[in-house]
Amino acid sequence: MGFQGFPMLTADEVASLIPHDAMVAFSGFTPAGTAKAVPQALARRASDLHSAGLPYQIRVLTGASTGTSLDDTLAKADAISWRAPYQSSSVLRKQINQGDVAFVDMHLSHVPQSVLFGFFGKIDFAVIEATDITPDGRVYLSTSIGASPTFLQAAENVIIEVNRSHSHRLSDMADIVVPKPPPHRHAIDLDHPLERIGKPYARVDPEKVIAIVETNEPDEPAHFADPDEVSNAIADHVVKFLTKELACGRIPREFLPLQSGVGNVANAVLQGIGENPEIPNFMMYTEVLQSSALELMLQGRLLGASTCALVLSAEATRQVTDNIDFFATRTVLRPQEISNNPAAVRQLGIIAMNTALEVDIFGHVNSTHVCGQQIMNGIGGSGDFARNAYQSIFMCPSVAKGGRISTIVPMCTHVDHNEHSVHVVVTEQGLADLRGLAPQQRASTIIDRCAHPMYRDYLHRYLREENSSHIPHDLSRCFELHQNLLQTGAMLPDCSFTRVNQPEMHCGV
Ligand code: COA
Repeated sequence: MGFQGFPMLTADEVASLIPHDAMVAFSGFTPAGTAKAVPQALARRASDLHSAGLPYQIRVLTGASTGTSLDDTLAKADAISWRAPYQSSSVLRKQINQGDVAFVDMHLSHVPQSVLFGFFGKIDFAVIEATDITPDGRVYLSTSIGASPTFLQAAENVIIEVNRSHSHRLSDMADIVVPKPPPHRHAIDLDHPLERIGKPYARVDPEKVIAIVETNEPDEPAHFADPDEVSNAIADHVVKFLTKELACGRIPREFLPLQSGVGNVANAVLQGIGENPEIPNFMMYTEVLQSSALELMLQGRLLGASTCALVLSAEATRQVTDNIDFFATRTVLRPQEISNNPAAVRQLGIIAMNTALEVDIFGHVNSTHVCGQQIMNGIGGSGDFARNAYQSIFMCPSVAKGGRISTIVPMCTHVDHNEHSVHVVVTEQGLADLRGLAPQQRASTIIDRCAHPMYRDYLHRYLREENSSHIPHDLSRCFELHQNLLQTGAMLPDCSFTRVNQPEMHCGV
């Protein structure tokens, strides 16, 4: 029997139509709105074919990271040969770092345009989760928009997973526009985070829809650690900085929209901002809205938010469904090309708060590669926001792995955000405001304010011994800490602090 005139198939029937080496674009931006049934069926197909000695792998494109039913499940079945643009699956990460999966790490706002212009080649299939589709090809997306509107346009064949577990009213939040390609592109006309410039649905040519798969699976939960002492200390420094900026007029009285990265540090910071009465009620223009932000919305602290995805706990999902009129007037769900649009970020004057793996003493940031080699997740949207933010803040604990790693280093082993995009660095030790500082001033400020006391002497010595250039470096020693780490398991192996913690060490990820 058909659904709105489209063929209805099971997920396994759909999987049998997708050949080895196909390029498949899936919906999903974090676990929110991830296609669920078809990827699990593809993993079953891969396992069956591998058992019979036959090859089966696909190339996987998504909006960002996904739920476990996609990346984890396909990776466990050894079913991915190529992947873009971001991932956070431990199984897939291992395969990428072993060189078994080719991974393209890229700015999330670039994905739709890269697809439309064929930078990844032909998109053979799009598998998109939706709450509904109409016979004339209106597709009502679920908890994320991601790059799905563009995948629906570009793919040769389209499969829609109609997921009954989501509220139909989610589309009240959607504002979907696919910008025309240059040179005919109009300016992104956003004067306010909640301004609407599009439609509540995406469009597909109905002729391309080869199957509807009915599902009833809620989004898989994203797991975040509760804020701890370190993340609370970081939050405290950020909140104090923002209130000071407000007091001296560098942030206007009505405040500026916030972008907040994901993870426990970002959660703690948002919570800290929400709890501080000196910070006025505020807006967000961000890529992921988590349950904690919805809580602030209910309290009236968060006035409204533009986002690309709603990453909700089961309880928060219920709250949204039960109070949809309240949330739909305060939340706009946009495609990642708009939620992360650098022009909009500059126009709206965003305060961007992202997390780093390591920061060097001159203010460059590595968000992605441990020791410049092993990828953690990817750059995600951090570059989209940081480069164009009114204020760009990077945060991280001063040490990792029980102190065996200093996150403040002489030179980053990989640079995702350079000195020009990093205004403020924060660790639990303190906050370094780098605006207006020359490289050597930046270096001493970062060392004194942000480095763990255990590493300050080393870093100051490094700086003192090499001070005869604009950005002084000793190229024979700039990675000494990293080399120590790789050789001995600690950046300062002779230091009693790092020795005590040695047994827990695993420097790879
Ligand atoms: N060297 C080696 N390992 C390090 C490290 C370093 N310099 N810094 C942190 N780590 C390890 C931690 O020990 C931890 O390891 P574990 O999982 O074995 O415990 C892991 O990296 C994650 O660190 P954590 O402090 O828990 O940070 P997080 O969960 O806040 O994530 C990033 C930090 C940088 C990995 C994460 O924010 C990210 O992927 N950022 C890039 C994308 C992005 O910013 N997106 C948001 C844009 S909206």
